[in-house]
Amino acid sequence: MKEIKYHLAEDTIDKNDIDQLIEWLKTYPRLTKADLTLAFEKKWSDWVGKKYSVFCNSGSSANLLMYYALLLSGVLKNKKIIVPSVGWVTTIAPAIQFGFEPIMCEADKDTFGLDLKHLEELLQKHNPSAVIMVQVLGVPHKMDELMALKEKYGFILLEDACAAMGASYHGKRVGSFGDMSSASLYFGHQISTIEGGLVSTDNKIFNDALLMARSHGWGKDLEKETHSQLIKKYGIDDFHSPFVFYEPGFNLRSTDLNAFLGIRQIDKMDWLIKRREENHGIYKKLLGDYFYIQQAPADSVICSIHFGALAKDTEERRKIVKALEENGIETRIFSAGNLGLHPFWYNRYGKMSFPMADQIHHTGFFLPNSPSLNPKDIEFISSVVLDSVKERITFPLHNPSLIPMAQFASVKNPLKILVTGGAGYIGSILVPELLKQGHEVTVIDNFMYNQPSLLDCCHHKNLTIARGDVRDEKLIAKHLQGKDFIIPLACLVGAPLCDKDPIAARNINLEAIKMILRLREPNQKIIFPNTNSGYGRQQEGTSFCDENTPLDPITLYGQLKVEAEKAILESGNGITLRLATVFGISPRMRLDLLVNDFVYRALNDRFIILFESHFKRNYIHIRDVVSAFVHCMDNFESLKNQTYNVGLSDANLSKLELCQEIKKQLPSFVFLESSVGEDPDKRDYVISNEKIEKTGFKPQVSLQEGIAELIKGYQVIKKNQFTNI
Ligand SMILES: Cc1ncc(COP(=O)(O)O)c(C=O)c1O
Repeated sequence: MKEIKYHLAEDTIDKNDIDQLIEWLKTYPRLTKADLTLAFEKKWSDWVGKKYSVFCNSGSSANLLMYYALLLSGVLKNKKIIVPSVGWVTTIAPAIQFGFEPIMCEADKDTFGLDLKHLEELLQKHNPSAVIMVQVLGVPHKMDELMALKEKYGFILLEDACAAMGASYHGKRVGSFGDMSSASLYFGHQISTIEGGLVSTDNKIFNDALLMARSHGWGKDLEKETHSQLIKKYGIDDFHSPFVFYEPGFNLRSTDLNAFLGIRQIDKMDWLIKRREENHGIYKKLLGDYFYIQQAPADSVICSIHFGALAKDTEERRKIVKALEENGIETRIFSAGNLGLHPFWYNRYGKMSFPMADQIHHTGFFLPNSPSLNPKDIEFISSVVLDSVKERITFPLHNPSLIPMAQFASVKNPLKILVTGGAGYIGSILVPELLKQGHEVTVIDNFMYNQPSLLDCCHHKNLTIARGDVRDEKLIAKHLQGKDFIIPLACLVGAPLCDKDPIAARNINLEAIKMILRLREPNQKIIFPNTNSGYGRQQEGTSFCDENTPLDPITLYGQLKVEAEKAILESGNGITLRLATVFGISPRMRLDLLVNDFVYRALNDRFIILFESHFKRNYIHIRDVVSAFVHCMDNFESLKNQTYNVGLSDANLSKLELCQEIKKQLPSFVFLESSVGEDPDKRDYVISNEKIEKTGFKPQVSLQEGIAELIKGYQVIKKNQFTNI
C-alpha cells in the first residue's frame, strides 16, 4: 500500500481543543469523573433531546449498559431480542454475554437498518421483549414505520446510534428515538472524546439502573432523593451509605478530562454535521448512479463518518480496493458486513445469510468522509473509484437498481426441518445445503444402502440424525415436533424396486406419507417430490404436458407417488414437485437414472444399444432440484397447495438426442438402435416447466455441465457400488 493520503478516520479533536485542554490541565483539576462529566451529560441530553444521559468509556460500553439496564429494571417479559445483521459486534455481544436469545434480522435495502418486513415476521413469530436497531452510518432509518411496529408489538427499542450522531429524521435527532440510545465518541466518529460513549433515555428507571451499573452498582451517582430512598429502604447508616452496592455493577466510567473535550465537541457539532453532509452529497452525486448506496428517507439529514457503497460483485470490489490503495486512499469493508457471517455468531447459532446483508458483506466498501475533506478531495477519490471500473460504467447502466444482486444463499431465519430419507440421492445434497443456510435439520434414514453420505455434515451442531424407519410411528411423531418444514424423501424409488417388494413400497411410499399428514400440526409445511413419469405417454395432438395434463401412472411406483401427491395436496399446506429425470453426482449416487447410466456406460463400455430411442424425456440436475426445494421454502405462502413441474426447459430430449449430447464430450461413444426392451412407465413426453419458472425459479445447471460432472465423478465411482436393486 502506498503512503496513506486520505485516511478513513481523522480526529475531530483539533489544535484549539488541545490548547484549551492544556490550559485547563494547568489548573491542576481533579481528572476523574466529577462535575465536568455531569455538565457534559446535561449538555448532551439537551442537544440530543432526551431527559437523561450517562457518559461512559465507549460506545460498546454504552450498549452493554443498555442491555444490563434492561435486566436490572425488571421490565422484560422474556430474554428474546431482535438484533441487526448489519451493525457492530458490540451491538449484539451483550446479548450473548448476558444470556439473551438474539434473533437476527435482515438489512433494509434502502437504509441498511432493520428490514421492516422481516422484523415484523420475527416479531410475530418470537414475541421478543426488545429490539436493538442500528442507525447505519449516519443514514437515518425509516423511523415512522419502525415506531409503528413498536406501537403495534409493544417491544422496548434500543437505538444504537454509535456511528450516526448528528443525523436526523423529520427534524428529530437520531439517538432520541429509542427507549435507550447509545452514542460512540471514538476517534473518527462524528465527535470524539478520545474514547467514550453515552446512553440517553427519558426513563428514570432505566437511568437509575444505568447510573448504578456504570459505577460498581453503588447508589451515590443517583439523584439525591433516589439515593435517599434506597438508603431508607435498606436501613443504611451515613457512614456506610457511599459504599453500599445495590446491584452487581461494572466500572465503565469515563473521566472529566474526556468530558472537557466532549463539551467542546458539542459546540462544533453544527459545523461537523454540515461538512459531512455536504461531502456525502458530493459522493452520492458522483457515485450514486453507478453503485448501490444507502438511501435516506425523505426529510432527513445524513451525517456519515464514511461513505459506504456496494460494488457489483466481490471481484469488482477487489479492483476498487486495489485502485484506492494505489492512490493512497484508505478503505475497508462496510462496517462489519453481515454479523451473521462472523465466527462470534456462527460458532454459536450457525451462519446467517440474508440477501441484502450478504451483498453488503461481499461487495461493500468504505470511502473517507472527514470534515477536513473538501469537494476536490471527494471528486478525486470518486474518480479513482470510477476509473477502476471503467469498463462497467461505460455501459448504459445508470440505475443502480439494475445492478444484479449476487446470488448468495438466501435465508430469512433459521427453520427447523425434518428430512426423511435425508441420506438418499437427493437428501445427501439437500441436507448440507439446508445446514449451510443456517437451518436446523433432522434426518430420518435407515441407511439401507450402507451409504456414508452426510458423514461430512456430522460436525454440524444443527444436524440431528435419527437412524430409523419412516414406518415407525413413534419415531416420526417424536421428530415432527417443533418442525417448520417436512421434506419426505424416504421412498423405494423406481418401478423395478417397487415391483420387487410391493408391500414395502406401499407402506413406505404412500402409507408413511399419510401417517405424516395425520401426525403433523396443520401449520407444519410439506414439500414433496413426485416424479413426472406419471404423465406417461403424451397424448396425441398435444405439444407438451403441463400440470393440468391428467396423470396416468402405469407402474406401482408411479401410482403410489401420484396417490401420495394427491393426499398431500388435499391435506393442504403442502407443495409437490414433479421432477424430471434427475442427473448429477451425489454422495449416495444412483447409476440407474437415465443420464447417469448412459454417461457411465458411454465412459466405461463406450457403447449402448438403445430401445425406444425416440421417446422423449425431460431432465434436471440434482442441485437444481435442491434449489427448487429452497425456492419453495422461501416462497411457500405464494406457492402452496399446488404442484409444479421441475425440469430444464431446454432439455426435452429423446434418448437418441441424449446420446448425441454425451458424444459431444465422449467422442468414442457409439450407440445403436434396436427394439430390445421397453420402459415400464412408457415415458414419452415434452414437459412444460413454465409454471415454476413464472414464480422466479430458474435451473442453473445445463445438461452439458452435468455430463462433464458425471465424467469427472466416474473416475471415483466403481460399477455396482451404487445400484438400487
Ligand atoms: C453501530 C456501532 N455500535 C457500536 C460501536 C462501538 O463503539 P466504540 O468503538 O465506541 O466502542 C460502533 C463502532 O464503530 C458502531 O459502529
